Amino acid sequence: MKVTIIGAGNVGATAASVLATKNVASRVVMLDVREGFAEGKAMDMMQTSHMLGNDTVVEGCTNDFSRTAGSSIVVITSGIARKPGMSREDLIGINAGIVKDVAERAIQASPDAIFIVVSNPADTLTYLTLKETGLPKNRVMGMTAILDSSRFIYFLAQAIGCPTTDVEGMVIGSHGDSMVPLARYARYQGISVRDFLSKSVLEDVINKTKNGGALLTKLVGTSAWYAPGVGIATMAEAILHDSRKMISCSVYLDGEYGEKDVCVAVPAILGANGVEKIITLPLNEKEKELFRISAANAHESIAKLKEILAKK
Ligand code: 2OP
Repeated sequence: MKVTIIGAGNVGATAASVLATKNVASRVVMLDVREGFAEGKAMDMMQTSHMLGNDTVVEGCTNDFSRTAGSSIVVITSGIARKPGMSREDLIGINAGIVKDVAERAIQASPDAIFIVVSNPADTLTYLTLKETGLPKNRVMGMTAILDSSRFIYFLAQAIGCPTTDVEGMVIGSHGDSMVPLARYARYQGISVRDFLSKSVLEDVINKTKNGGALLTKLVGTSAWYAPGVGIATMAEAILHDSRKMISCSVYLDGEYGEKDVCVAVPAILGANGVEKIITLPLNEKEKELFRISAANAHESIAKLKEILAKK
């Protein structure tokens, strides 16, 4: 199976490296606009394969979409990353045009592909990719809340003082400040985390989760890449291996959770057809309100996108 990753920056290259190291795909093609950049990163990765014992072929190309032809999955990471103090929304003016262009060119080369969108604002650009490619809604999704959920799990484990592998947690909603970490559903070895953490500590964990991306951007000077890259690879693996794994990611809602014509994160079963099924959680009134607010932000961002595209 072939996976194309558009954008060989930190996030795209990390995803390629994880896909190769875990032998998820037989071939990974990285495409970048910078001359030789993707080729160089692919060559560097291929020089690890003997030591790591994997036989995935990783290739790089410079803006040549013919090299991406026939991909099962296309990952869009291209565009600019945020700098300290920027919101993901601040990127829409530049990234919308880039994602529109690469989505058009990628679908022509790989008409049967499933798309995973990462470029921010990811919910909005997932929506754009869905509309631009004209694909059915199950074949376009955004790598968003699998990352937020992993940060939620990390901060819960830090607060409890346990391994992250002992914790389960899920975030839904938009990939931004109004995301909804579901504390009521979070578990430590099957036991509610609320039996281990006070209300104030849990609130602190929720705030750290919401601010998780911005904190890393402040510390490192650019947006994160290790966890986003693994998030991409995890979604791609569920699709390529048809594992029907439940993953919280940005999907097109057509009435689910009371929302229509918007892409935000909800739990989805991912398999060979992409989004196999959307799981409707029995949210309580407070969770429903928080999700509504989060989805409203995503609707606002789509309205801004349409204004930008109308001016082009
Ligand atoms: C993040 O939250 C890049 O949006 C991504 O780190």
